[in-house]
Amino acid sequence: MLGSDINFFCYSGTGNTLLIVNKMIKIFSDQGIRVNLYQIEHTDPKKIATGKTIGLAFPVAFQSTFPFIWNFINNLPQTKGTPVFMVDTMMAFSGAIVGPLKRVLSVKGYDCIGACEIVMPNNWLPKTIDEEKNSKKINEGLEKAGNYALELIEGQASWNRMPFLSQGLYHLCCNDFIMKRVNLSAGRKITLNKEKCLKCGLCARLCPVDNIEMKEYPVWHNSCEVCMRCLSFCPIKAVFIPGKEFKNYRAVKAKELLNENPGRS
Ligand SMILES: Cc1cc2nc3c(=O)[nH]c(=O)nc-3n(C[C@H](O)[C@H](O)[C@H](O)COP(=O)(O)O)c2cc1C
Repeated sequence: MLGSDINFFCYSGTGNTLLIVNKMIKIFSDQGIRVNLYQIEHTDPKKIATGKTIGLAFPVAFQSTFPFIWNFINNLPQTKGTPVFMVDTMMAFSGAIVGPLKRVLSVKGYDCIGACEIVMPNNWLPKTIDEEKNSKKINEGLEKAGNYALELIEGQASWNRMPFLSQGLYHLCCNDFIMKRVNLSAGRKITLNKEKCLKCGLCARLCPVDNIEMKEYPVWHNSCEVCMRCLSFCPIKAVFIPGKEFKNYRAVKAKELLNENPGRS
């Protein structure tokens, strides 16, 4: 049962997931369901109240999701049957999130009432951006999100997956060795063009894992998870990866992703 109050926890790198969440909130609100929206990157999962339904929303990364999202999920409190639903966005395919997530949440005592994966435009170093194709994808994604929200309200949503295969892929994609040496290696190459840099600090404010320290110029430390925010939102493209040609993908304005409005309902 979805209930009449939802605490929705969302992380969105470049805005795709936020668009989906906003659509779902609109459908919930139209049906009289109250929703509080929180940013995963600014929430301590251990302090979450479990008396209301929990929603989780995040992008797919490396067939699963980012380590800091897993960290959030792994630290959610134990509960006795709190309903939880998830929605993720991806460019094409994820094999290692829906099953493994259900497993973790079930062990913690949550009632997994619905899972939905939604295709949205690619934000991972896109070589070109086709506005027409992207807007078609976004419209289809928003429609799917709206239908999913209705299914949740009507108790028709489900959370199925082949846990065995999904779990195997999770161990392959998300283990520390692969994450640090392969998946996250692009983060170590992120470079700043100091001559271009406006020293505006936007990259540091947007970084979900506080990996960017604003000194005279922004300085990247070693815990980048390549969420694409600093690369995508730099107003003058001063942040780049040497040897990689890519366009900046943004589905929303940077201010919509900042922590200026936590817990809005
Ligand atoms: C580092 C990274 C890895 C990604 N890996 C996948 C993937 O394995 N499968 C996929 O379909 N999309 C992948 N994507 C694409 C994003 O999941 C997709 O564009 C998503 O909608 C972005 O959402 P956001 O704007 O809320 O961050 C990846 C994106 C990034 C930045």
